[in-house]
Amino acid sequence: MQLWAKPWLLLLLVVLALPLPAGWVVAEEQPDAMTRGRDLFRKNCIVCHPSDVGGGHRNGPNLWGVVGRKVASSPVYPYSDALREWGREKRWDMAQLNPFLANPAQVVPGVRMGFKGIADAEERTALLTFLSTLAGSGASQAGSQNDRIMPLDWGGLPEGNGRKEVFFTCQACHSLMIVKQQRLSRRVWDETLRWMVSEKKMPEPPRETREKILDYLAGHFGETAPRVGMPVLPPLLPPPPPPP
Ligand code: HEC
Ligand code: HEC
Repeated sequence: MQLWAKPWLLLLLVVLALPLPAGWVVAEEQPDAMTRGRDLFRKNCIVCHPSDVGGGHRNGPNLWGVVGRKVASSPVYPYSDALREWGREKRWDMAQLNPFLANPAQVVPGVRMGFKGIADAEERTALLTFLSTLAGSGASQAGSQNDRIMPLDWGGLPEGNGRKEVFFTCQACHSLMIVKQQRLSRRVWDETLRWMVSEKKMPEPPRETREKILDYLAGHFGETAPRVGMPVLPPLLPPPPPPP
């Protein structure tokens, strides 16, 4: 085929070679960054952070409406003092989020977020694009809106000294269900903690924290504790015959 014999084809090639107007490029790249950001969020964040209205909080606070919201501003989520102090008078705008997500522990020393950060700047941009979509109208209100719908339920752990420590320490790797369904003596809880450290890579908690956790577990999920919320099984034997 000879190109000059087909002027329309030549024209098409020329048009395709022209740079696209700026607006088109953005329109084309936007969904890509969004999808990439969403995948990064699913891969890195969602295990700890719910991101939907009504999704409550998990190990980390709910991130619905996080962009633009005041730092550590959920009234029901138990933030660390480190984050509260650092975040006084700050909002999660892009200028704060970007370095924080690159290296949380360096930006906020003592932050309780067990995540090393996302080093790749392009990945962070994609993630931030996605985070900024997590908002309805009145994004900065969204955090407290979410609290009204779904207060922190502590994963169903009963109130008591040590609850916070158990909530944060144990939920980092698995559901609290696995903990709540046990009924163990203090000695066996102690062994379980040792086993979590030696075999399951749980970081050894500071001594005081460990004591608190152990007291809480032995107190609320001890051998003789009732099985709250478990269906009571009917007796296996048929009822005795009625007296004659
Ligand atoms: C292992 C659990 C975990 C992972 C993974 C994690 N976070 Fe967090 N995140 C937390 C905890 C816990 C806090 C609260 C920190 C504190 O109180 O010191 C937090 C706090 C935050 C905050 C502050 C929220 C506020 O209300 O002020 C932001 C923003 C945040 N995380 C974003 C992210 C993003 C984005 C990712 C994924 C790239 C991520 N986190 C991954 C546990 C996690
Ligand atoms: C670093 C990760 C990690 C942490 C932190 C962690 N665990 Fe585990 N735990 C595991 C793994 C892995 C298993 C194996 C079960 C599974 O596959 O989910 C497990 C299983 C368990 C089981 C079930 C044992 C059985 O007989 O099936 C109990 C009980 C338990 N953990 C208690 C705790 C308690 C209590 C804490 C907090 C003090 C804790 N874990 C913290 C990783 C962890």
